[in-house]
Amino acid sequence: MAEIPGSWKASEEHLAKANAVIEATKASGNLYRHGLGMIASENIVSPMVQKVVCSDLHGRYAEGLPGKRYYQGCDDFDTIESIGIDLAKKVFSAEFANIQSISGTVSNIAALKALAKPGDKITAVSTADGGHISHARMGAVGLRDLDLSTYPWDIDRMEPDVDGSCKLIREIKPKVCLIGQSVFLFPTPLKEIAAAAHEVGAQVMYDGAHVLGLIAGGQFQDPLREGADIMTGSSHKTFPGPQGGFLLSSTTDEKMQRQLNNAIFPGTCSSYHLHHVAGKVVALAEFEEYGESYARDIVQNARALGESLAAEGFDVLAEGRNYTASHQVLTRHGDVDSGAGATAAQLLEDAGIITNMNMLPGDTKALKPSGLRLGVQELTRVGMGKNEMAEVARLFAKVLIEHQDPDKIKLQVKQLKSSFQTIRYCFNDDNQSGYVL
Ligand SMILES: Cc1ncc(COP(=O)(O)O)c(C=O)c1O
Repeated sequence: MAEIPGSWKASEEHLAKANAVIEATKASGNLYRHGLGMIASENIVSPMVQKVVCSDLHGRYAEGLPGKRYYQGCDDFDTIESIGIDLAKKVFSAEFANIQSISGTVSNIAALKALAKPGDKITAVSTADGGHISHARMGAVGLRDLDLSTYPWDIDRMEPDVDGSCKLIREIKPKVCLIGQSVFLFPTPLKEIAAAAHEVGAQVMYDGAHVLGLIAGGQFQDPLREGADIMTGSSHKTFPGPQGGFLLSSTTDEKMQRQLNNAIFPGTCSSYHLHHVAGKVVALAEFEEYGESYARDIVQNARALGESLAAEGFDVLAEGRNYTASHQVLTRHGDVDSGAGATAAQLLEDAGIITNMNMLPGDTKALKPSGLRLGVQELTRVGMGKNEMAEVARLFAKVLIEHQDPDKIKLQVKQLKSSFQTIRYCFNDDNQSGYVL
Protein backbone atom coordinates (compact mmCIF):
# COMPACT_ATOMS: atom_id res chain seq x y z
CA MET A 1 0.00 0.00 0.00
CA ALA A 2 1.15 3.50 -0.75
CA GLU A 3 0.71 6.47 1.59
CA ILE A 4 -1.15 9.34 -0.03
CA PRO A 5 -1.17 12.84 1.49
CA GLY A 6 -4.04 12.90 4.01
CA SER A 7 -5.38 9.69 5.48
CA TRP A 8 -5.93 7.71 2.29
CA LYS A 9 -4.07 4.57 1.36
CA ALA A 10 -4.06 3.00 -2.09
CA SER A 11 -2.65 -0.10 -3.74
CA GLU A 12 0.61 0.56 -5.59
CA GLU A 13 -0.88 -1.05 -8.69
CA HIS A 14 -3.94 1.21 -8.88
CA LEU A 15 -2.03 4.34 -8.02
CA ALA A 16 0.57 3.49 -10.67
CA LYS A 17 -2.11 3.64 -13.39
CA ALA A 18 -3.24 7.10 -12.34
CA ASN A 19 0.37 8.25 -12.11
CA ALA A 20 1.03 6.89 -15.59
CA VAL A 21 -1.77 9.13 -16.85
CA ILE A 22 -0.29 12.15 -15.07
CA GLU A 23 3.16 11.43 -16.53
CA ALA A 24 1.81 10.90 -20.07
CA THR A 25 -0.21 14.12 -19.78
CA LYS A 26 2.94 16.01 -18.83
CA ALA A 27 4.88 14.38 -21.66
CA SER A 28 2.19 15.38 -24.17
CA GLY A 29 2.32 18.96 -22.86
CA ASN A 30 6.10 18.95 -23.24
CA LEU A 31 5.88 17.64 -26.79
CA TYR A 32 3.98 20.78 -27.82
CA ARG A 33 5.86 23.13 -25.50
CA HIS A 34 9.17 22.22 -27.12
CA GLY A 35 7.87 21.25 -30.56
CA LEU A 36 5.95 22.84 -33.41
CA GLY A 37 2.23 22.04 -33.28
CA MET A 38 1.08 22.26 -36.90
CA ILE A 39 -2.09 20.17 -36.99
CA ALA A 40 -4.71 22.31 -38.73
CA SER A 41 -7.56 21.35 -36.38
CA GLU A 42 -5.75 22.09 -33.11
CA ASN A 43 -4.99 25.13 -30.99
CA ILE A 44 -4.00 26.14 -27.48
CA VAL A 45 -6.27 28.00 -25.09
CA SER A 46 -5.57 31.18 -23.17
CA PRO A 47 -4.81 31.23 -19.42
CA MET A 48 -8.27 32.66 -18.65
CA VAL A 49 -9.91 29.91 -20.70
CA GLN A 50 -7.78 27.33 -18.88
CA LYS A 51 -8.99 28.72 -15.57
CA VAL A 52 -12.70 28.20 -16.27
CA VAL A 53 -12.17 24.87 -18.04
CA CYS A 54 -10.47 23.57 -14.88
CA SER A 55 -13.24 24.89 -12.60
CA ASP A 56 -16.06 23.28 -10.61
CA LEU A 57 -18.34 23.77 -13.63
CA HIS A 58 -16.87 20.60 -15.14
CA GLY A 59 -19.13 18.43 -13.00
CA ARG A 60 -22.40 20.41 -13.22
CA TYR A 61 -25.59 20.08 -15.22
CA ALA A 62 -27.78 22.76 -16.80
CA GLU A 63 -30.15 21.16 -19.30
CA GLY A 64 -32.35 23.65 -21.15
CA LEU A 65 -31.67 27.31 -21.88
CA PRO A 66 -30.87 30.26 -19.56
CA GLY A 67 -33.88 30.89 -17.34
CA LYS A 68 -35.56 27.61 -18.40
CA ARG A 69 -33.72 24.82 -16.58
CA TYR A 70 -34.53 21.35 -15.36
CA TYR A 71 -32.05 21.61 -12.47
CA GLN A 72 -31.56 23.95 -9.53
CA GLY A 73 -28.27 25.75 -8.98
CA CYS A 74 -28.02 27.18 -12.51
CA ASP A 75 -28.36 30.93 -11.86
CA ASP A 76 -24.64 31.61 -12.19
CA PHE A 77 -24.33 29.45 -15.24
CA ASP A 78 -27.34 31.27 -16.73
CA THR A 79 -25.25 34.44 -16.48
CA ILE A 80 -22.35 32.73 -18.28
CA GLU A 81 -24.46 31.24 -21.07
CA SER A 82 -26.45 34.45 -21.61
CA ILE A 83 -23.26 36.47 -22.02
CA GLY A 84 -22.01 33.76 -24.41
CA ILE A 85 -25.12 33.72 -26.63
CA ASP A 86 -24.98 37.51 -27.00
CA LEU A 87 -21.25 37.44 -27.71
CA ALA A 88 -21.54 34.61 -30.26
CA LYS A 89 -24.27 36.50 -32.13
CA LYS A 90 -22.02 39.56 -32.21
CA VAL A 91 -18.73 37.86 -33.06
CA PHE A 92 -20.29 35.76 -35.86
CA SER A 93 -22.84 38.45 -36.88
CA ALA A 94 -25.62 35.88 -36.44
CA GLU A 95 -29.30 36.28 -35.57
CA PHE A 96 -29.25 32.99 -33.67
CA ALA A 97 -26.54 31.25 -31.65
CA ASN A 98 -26.54 28.05 -29.63
CA ILE A 99 -23.22 27.58 -27.81
CA GLN A 100 -23.97 24.26 -26.10
CA SER A 101 -22.84 21.75 -28.71
CA ILE A 102 -19.96 19.60 -27.46
CA SER A 103 -18.20 19.38 -30.85
CA GLY A 104 -18.32 20.33 -34.51
CA THR A 105 -19.63 16.86 -35.32
CA VAL A 106 -22.48 17.21 -32.81
CA SER A 107 -23.30 20.64 -34.33
CA ASN A 108 -23.57 18.94 -37.72
CA ILE A 109 -25.75 16.10 -36.42
CA ALA A 110 -28.02 18.67 -34.74
CA ALA A 111 -28.23 20.88 -37.86
CA LEU A 112 -29.09 17.88 -40.03
CA LYS A 113 -31.72 16.82 -37.50
CA ALA A 114 -33.31 20.28 -37.68
CA LEU A 115 -33.08 20.66 -41.47
CA ALA A 116 -33.83 17.23 -42.93
CA LYS A 117 -35.81 14.03 -42.45
CA PRO A 118 -34.56 10.49 -43.11
CA GLY A 119 -34.56 9.82 -46.84
CA ASP A 120 -34.18 13.50 -47.84
CA LYS A 121 -31.54 14.42 -50.40
CA ILE A 122 -28.35 16.27 -49.49
CA THR A 123 -25.35 17.54 -51.47
CA ALA A 124 -21.87 17.86 -49.95
CA VAL A 125 -18.14 17.77 -50.76
CA SER A 126 -16.84 14.19 -50.94
CA THR A 127 -14.32 13.06 -48.34
CA ALA A 128 -11.84 12.38 -51.17
CA ASP A 129 -12.02 16.09 -52.05
CA GLY A 130 -11.62 17.20 -48.44
CA GLY A 131 -15.14 16.91 -47.04
CA HIS A 132 -15.43 15.82 -43.40
CA ILE A 133 -16.52 12.33 -42.38
CA SER A 134 -19.67 13.82 -40.81
CA HIS A 135 -20.67 14.90 -44.36
CA ALA A 136 -20.50 11.29 -45.51
CA ARG A 137 -22.65 8.17 -45.26
CA MET A 138 -20.19 6.79 -42.67
CA GLY A 139 -20.89 9.85 -40.46
CA ALA A 140 -23.73 12.25 -39.60
CA VAL A 141 -25.25 12.16 -43.11
CA GLY A 142 -25.63 8.38 -42.82
CA LEU A 143 -26.79 8.60 -39.21
CA ARG A 144 -29.70 10.76 -40.45
CA ASP A 145 -30.14 8.32 -43.37
CA LEU A 146 -29.86 11.07 -45.99
CA ASP A 147 -29.47 10.45 -49.72
CA LEU A 148 -26.04 11.93 -50.52
CA SER A 149 -24.74 13.33 -53.82
CA THR A 150 -21.30 14.97 -53.95
CA TYR A 151 -20.32 18.11 -55.84
CA PRO A 152 -17.96 17.92 -58.80
CA TRP A 153 -14.54 19.27 -57.72
CA ASP A 154 -12.25 21.79 -59.39
CA ILE A 155 -8.77 20.40 -58.66
CA ASP A 156 -6.91 23.49 -59.89
CA ARG A 157 -8.93 25.89 -57.79
CA MET A 158 -9.36 23.42 -54.88
CA GLU A 159 -13.06 24.25 -54.50
CA PRO A 160 -16.40 22.85 -55.73
CA ASP A 161 -16.83 23.29 -59.48
CA VAL A 162 -19.39 26.08 -59.43
CA ASP A 163 -21.27 25.39 -62.67
CA GLY A 164 -21.30 21.63 -62.07
CA SER A 165 -22.45 22.06 -58.46
CA CYS A 166 -25.28 24.42 -59.40
CA LYS A 167 -26.34 22.00 -62.16
CA LEU A 168 -26.35 19.10 -59.69
CA ILE A 169 -28.45 21.08 -57.21
CA ARG A 170 -30.99 22.09 -59.87
CA GLU A 171 -31.22 18.50 -61.08
CA ILE A 172 -31.62 16.62 -57.84
CA LYS A 173 -33.35 19.35 -55.77
CA PRO A 174 -31.85 18.44 -52.36
CA LYS A 175 -33.32 19.47 -49.02
CA VAL A 176 -29.89 20.58 -47.75
CA CYS A 177 -26.81 21.86 -49.58
CA LEU A 178 -23.88 21.28 -47.24
CA ILE A 179 -20.77 23.37 -47.91
CA GLY A 180 -17.32 23.31 -46.28
CA GLN A 181 -14.40 20.95 -45.89
CA SER A 182 -11.65 19.70 -43.61
CA VAL A 183 -9.15 20.53 -46.34
CA PHE A 184 -10.15 24.14 -46.77
CA LEU A 185 -7.69 26.35 -48.63
CA PHE A 186 -10.04 28.85 -50.30
CA PRO A 187 -13.48 30.36 -49.66
CA THR A 188 -16.30 28.51 -51.43
CA PRO A 189 -18.07 30.40 -54.24
CA LEU A 190 -21.10 30.46 -52.00
CA LYS A 191 -23.30 33.13 -53.59
CA GLU A 192 -23.76 31.14 -56.79
CA ILE A 193 -24.31 27.82 -55.02
CA ALA A 194 -26.69 29.35 -52.45
CA ALA A 195 -28.72 30.98 -55.25
CA ALA A 196 -29.17 27.59 -56.96
CA ALA A 197 -30.02 25.99 -53.60
CA HIS A 198 -32.64 28.57 -52.68
CA GLU A 199 -34.12 28.37 -56.19
CA VAL A 200 -35.02 24.70 -55.52
CA GLY A 201 -36.10 25.34 -51.91
CA ALA A 202 -32.98 23.85 -50.28
CA GLN A 203 -31.39 25.18 -47.09
CA VAL A 204 -27.68 26.01 -47.21
CA MET A 205 -25.65 24.62 -44.32
CA TYR A 206 -22.06 25.88 -44.11
CA ASP A 207 -19.63 23.83 -42.01
CA GLY A 208 -17.06 26.35 -40.83
CA ALA A 209 -15.36 23.98 -38.35
CA HIS A 210 -11.87 24.77 -39.61
CA VAL A 211 -12.25 28.38 -40.64
CA LEU A 212 -14.59 29.74 -37.95
CA GLY A 213 -11.90 31.99 -36.43
CA LEU A 214 -10.96 33.35 -39.84
CA ILE A 215 -14.63 34.05 -40.63
CA ALA A 216 -15.22 35.76 -37.27
CA GLY A 217 -12.02 37.77 -37.78
CA GLY A 218 -13.24 38.95 -41.20
CA GLN A 219 -10.41 37.25 -43.12
CA PHE A 220 -12.07 34.43 -45.07
CA GLN A 221 -15.67 34.67 -46.26
CA ASP A 222 -18.89 35.71 -44.58
CA PRO A 223 -21.18 32.69 -45.09
CA LEU A 224 -24.26 34.01 -43.32
CA ARG A 225 -24.26 37.04 -45.62
CA GLU A 226 -23.33 35.08 -48.73
CA GLY A 227 -26.39 32.85 -48.58
CA ALA A 228 -25.81 30.25 -45.83
CA ASP A 229 -28.89 29.69 -43.65
CA ILE A 230 -27.04 27.74 -40.96
CA MET A 231 -23.38 27.75 -39.95
CA THR A 232 -21.85 25.03 -37.78
CA GLY A 233 -18.32 24.78 -36.47
CA SER A 234 -15.82 23.70 -33.86
CA SER A 235 -14.76 26.10 -31.13
CA HIS A 236 -11.13 24.94 -31.05
CA LYS A 237 -9.50 25.09 -34.49
CA THR A 238 -8.91 28.57 -35.88
CA PHE A 239 -11.43 29.77 -33.30
CA PRO A 240 -9.17 29.53 -30.24
CA GLY A 241 -11.49 28.16 -27.57
CA PRO A 242 -11.70 24.83 -25.74
CA GLN A 243 -13.03 21.79 -27.59
CA GLY A 244 -16.70 22.21 -28.44
CA GLY A 245 -19.04 23.46 -31.14
CA PHE A 246 -21.29 26.30 -32.27
CA LEU A 247 -24.61 26.31 -34.09
CA LEU A 248 -25.32 29.67 -35.74
CA SER A 249 -27.92 30.99 -38.12
CA SER A 250 -29.08 34.04 -40.00
CA THR A 251 -32.70 33.05 -39.43
CA THR A 252 -35.04 35.32 -37.50
CA ASP A 253 -37.82 32.72 -37.74
CA GLU A 254 -38.63 31.76 -34.16
CA LYS A 255 -39.92 28.32 -35.16
CA MET A 256 -36.64 27.49 -36.89
CA GLN A 257 -34.66 28.90 -33.94
CA ARG A 258 -36.67 26.64 -31.60
CA GLN A 259 -36.00 23.67 -33.89
CA LEU A 260 -32.26 24.38 -33.81
CA ASN A 261 -32.21 24.69 -30.02
CA ASN A 262 -34.24 21.48 -29.69
CA ALA A 263 -31.86 19.69 -32.03
CA ILE A 264 -29.06 20.35 -29.49
CA PHE A 265 -31.15 19.67 -26.35
CA PRO A 266 -32.84 17.23 -26.12
CA GLY A 267 -31.82 16.21 -29.67
CA THR A 268 -28.14 15.49 -29.31
CA CYS A 269 -26.94 16.55 -25.84
CA SER A 270 -28.05 16.14 -22.26
CA SER A 271 -25.20 17.57 -20.20
CA TYR A 272 -23.24 19.83 -22.46
CA HIS A 273 -19.93 20.27 -20.61
CA LEU A 274 -20.50 23.56 -18.81
CA HIS A 275 -16.79 24.16 -18.17
CA HIS A 276 -16.18 24.12 -21.92
CA VAL A 277 -19.14 26.44 -22.54
CA ALA A 278 -17.64 28.89 -20.01
CA GLY A 279 -14.29 28.53 -21.81
CA LYS A 280 -15.96 29.30 -25.14
CA VAL A 281 -17.49 32.45 -23.64
CA VAL A 282 -14.12 33.70 -22.37
CA ALA A 283 -12.61 32.89 -25.78
CA LEU A 284 -15.43 34.84 -27.47
CA ALA A 285 -14.70 37.86 -25.26
CA GLU A 286 -10.98 37.62 -26.10
CA PHE A 287 -11.82 37.17 -29.76
CA GLU A 288 -13.98 40.31 -29.73
CA GLU A 289 -10.87 42.20 -28.62
CA TYR A 290 -8.09 40.53 -30.61
CA GLY A 291 -9.73 38.26 -33.18
CA GLU A 292 -9.32 40.40 -36.26
CA SER A 293 -5.54 40.75 -35.91
CA TYR A 294 -5.21 37.09 -34.94
CA ALA A 295 -7.10 35.94 -38.04
CA ARG A 296 -5.16 38.33 -40.29
CA ASP A 297 -1.82 37.12 -38.93
CA ILE A 298 -2.83 33.46 -39.42
CA VAL A 299 -3.65 33.93 -43.10
CA GLN A 300 -0.46 35.94 -43.69
CA ASN A 301 1.61 33.25 -41.99
CA ALA A 302 -0.02 30.43 -43.95
CA ARG A 303 0.73 32.19 -47.21
CA ALA A 304 4.30 32.89 -46.06
CA LEU A 305 4.75 29.23 -45.12
CA GLY A 306 3.47 28.12 -48.54
CA GLU A 307 5.89 30.47 -50.30
CA SER A 308 8.84 29.45 -48.11
CA LEU A 309 8.17 25.72 -48.53
CA ALA A 310 7.95 26.18 -52.32
CA ALA A 311 11.21 28.16 -52.25
CA GLU A 312 12.85 25.25 -50.36
CA GLY A 313 11.80 22.92 -53.22
CA PHE A 314 8.60 21.36 -51.85
CA ASP A 315 5.59 20.64 -54.06
CA VAL A 316 3.03 22.96 -52.48
CA LEU A 317 -0.51 22.71 -53.83
CA ALA A 318 -2.44 25.61 -55.41
CA GLU A 319 0.62 27.59 -56.49
CA GLY A 320 -1.55 29.43 -59.04
CA ARG A 321 -3.70 30.82 -56.18
CA ASN A 322 -0.78 31.80 -53.91
CA TYR A 323 -1.09 28.47 -52.07
CA THR A 324 -3.80 29.37 -49.58
CA ALA A 325 -6.30 31.90 -48.25
CA SER A 326 -6.84 30.09 -44.93
CA HIS A 327 -4.71 28.68 -42.10
CA GLN A 328 -3.84 25.56 -44.11
CA VAL A 329 -1.07 24.62 -46.53
CA LEU A 330 -0.94 21.32 -48.46
CA THR A 331 2.27 19.63 -49.60
CA ARG A 332 2.74 16.60 -51.84
CA HIS A 333 5.61 14.23 -50.97
CA GLY A 334 5.33 11.44 -53.55
CA ASP A 335 3.06 9.59 -55.94
CA VAL A 336 -0.65 9.12 -55.41
CA ASP A 337 -1.38 6.36 -52.83
CA SER A 338 2.37 5.98 -52.15
CA GLY A 339 2.09 6.66 -48.42
CA ALA A 340 4.77 9.35 -48.79
CA GLY A 341 2.67 11.68 -46.62
CA ALA A 342 2.70 9.15 -43.77
CA THR A 343 6.49 8.76 -44.00
CA ALA A 344 6.99 12.53 -44.04
CA ALA A 345 4.70 13.01 -41.02
CA GLN A 346 6.64 10.40 -39.02
CA LEU A 347 10.03 11.92 -39.87
CA LEU A 348 8.76 15.35 -38.89
CA GLU A 349 7.42 14.00 -35.59
CA ASP A 350 10.85 12.48 -34.92
CA ALA A 351 12.17 16.03 -35.30
CA GLY A 352 9.53 17.52 -32.96
CA ILE A 353 7.24 18.88 -35.71
CA ILE A 354 3.67 17.60 -35.32
CA THR A 355 1.62 17.41 -38.54
CA ASN A 356 -0.84 15.00 -40.14
CA MET A 357 -0.74 12.98 -43.34
CA ASN A 358 -3.56 13.85 -45.70
CA MET A 359 -5.15 12.59 -48.88
CA LEU A 360 -4.58 14.89 -51.84
CA PRO A 361 -6.51 14.94 -55.14
CA GLY A 362 -6.07 11.51 -56.74
CA ASP A 363 -5.30 9.65 -53.52
CA THR A 364 -7.72 6.82 -52.73
CA LYS A 365 -6.18 5.30 -49.58
CA ALA A 366 -6.66 7.25 -46.34
CA LEU A 367 -3.75 5.43 -44.64
CA LYS A 368 -1.38 5.75 -47.63
CA PRO A 369 -1.84 9.35 -48.74
CA SER A 370 0.74 11.35 -50.66
CA GLY A 371 0.43 14.60 -48.75
CA LEU A 372 0.57 16.60 -45.55
CA ARG A 373 -1.94 19.15 -44.28
CA LEU A 374 -0.27 21.89 -42.26
CA GLY A 375 -1.86 24.57 -40.06
CA VAL A 376 -0.22 27.71 -38.67
CA GLN A 377 -2.88 28.89 -36.18
CA GLU A 378 -1.06 27.54 -33.09
CA LEU A 379 2.36 28.89 -34.12
CA THR A 380 0.73 32.26 -34.85
CA ARG A 381 -0.89 32.26 -31.41
CA VAL A 382 2.49 32.07 -29.68
CA GLY A 383 3.80 34.99 -31.74
CA MET A 384 5.49 33.49 -34.78
CA GLY A 385 5.49 35.63 -37.94
CA LYS A 386 6.76 35.54 -41.50
CA ASN A 387 10.45 35.17 -40.53
CA GLU A 388 9.67 32.17 -38.39
CA MET A 389 7.62 30.63 -41.22
CA ALA A 390 10.80 30.75 -43.33
CA GLU A 391 12.72 29.10 -40.46
CA VAL A 392 10.05 26.41 -40.16
CA ALA A 393 10.26 25.72 -43.91
CA ARG A 394 14.05 25.41 -43.57
CA LEU A 395 13.60 22.84 -40.79
CA PHE A 396 11.18 20.89 -43.02
CA ALA A 397 13.80 20.92 -45.79
CA LYS A 398 16.53 19.69 -43.44
CA VAL A 399 14.38 16.72 -42.43
CA LEU A 400 12.60 15.82 -45.66
CA ILE A 401 14.90 17.03 -48.48
CA GLU A 402 18.40 16.96 -46.96
CA HIS A 403 17.60 13.91 -44.81
CA GLN A 404 19.49 15.26 -41.81
CA ASP A 405 19.26 13.35 -38.52
CA PRO A 406 15.81 14.16 -37.00
CA ASP A 407 17.29 14.01 -33.47
CA LYS A 408 19.64 16.87 -34.32
CA ILE A 409 16.85 18.88 -35.95
CA LYS A 410 14.73 18.32 -32.84
CA LEU A 411 17.26 20.37 -30.86
CA GLN A 412 16.98 23.19 -33.43
CA VAL A 413 13.19 22.99 -33.22
CA LYS A 414 13.39 23.24 -29.43
CA GLN A 415 15.73 26.22 -29.72
CA LEU A 416 13.37 28.02 -32.12
CA LYS A 417 10.34 27.24 -29.97
CA SER A 418 11.99 28.42 -26.74
CA SER A 419 11.40 32.05 -27.78
CA PHE A 420 7.70 31.39 -28.43
CA GLN A 421 6.19 30.25 -25.14
CA THR A 422 3.85 33.14 -24.45
CA ILE A 423 0.32 32.98 -25.67
CA ARG A 424 -0.91 36.10 -27.51
CA TYR A 425 -4.22 37.60 -28.60
CA CYS A 426 -5.74 37.09 -25.13
CA PHE A 427 -6.29 38.96 -21.86
CA ASN A 428 -3.32 39.23 -19.49
CA ASP A 429 -3.17 36.83 -16.62
CA ASP A 430 -0.63 35.85 -13.98
CA ASN A 431 0.29 32.68 -15.88
CA GLN A 432 0.70 33.70 -19.48
CA SER A 433 2.24 30.46 -20.78
CA GLY A 434 0.02 28.59 -23.24
CA TYR A 435 1.51 25.23 -22.34
CA VAL A 436 -0.02 23.70 -19.24
CA LEU A 437 1.67 20.60 -17.91
C1 LIG B 1 -15.21 20.31 -41.82
C2 LIG B 1 -15.27 19.68 -40.46
N1 LIG B 1 -16.45 19.56 -39.86
C3 LIG B 1 -16.57 19.01 -38.64
C4 LIG B 1 -15.46 18.55 -37.98
C5 LIG B 1 -15.65 17.90 -36.65
O1 LIG B 1 -15.27 18.72 -35.65
P1 LIG B 1 -15.07 18.14 -34.15
O2 LIG B 1 -13.76 17.48 -34.15
O3 LIG B 1 -15.18 19.38 -33.32
O4 LIG B 1 -16.20 17.19 -33.93
C6 LIG B 1 -14.20 18.66 -38.55
C7 LIG B 1 -13.02 18.17 -37.80
O5 LIG B 1 -11.91 18.33 -38.09
C8 LIG B 1 -14.10 19.23 -39.83
O6 LIG B 1 -12.93 19.32 -40.45
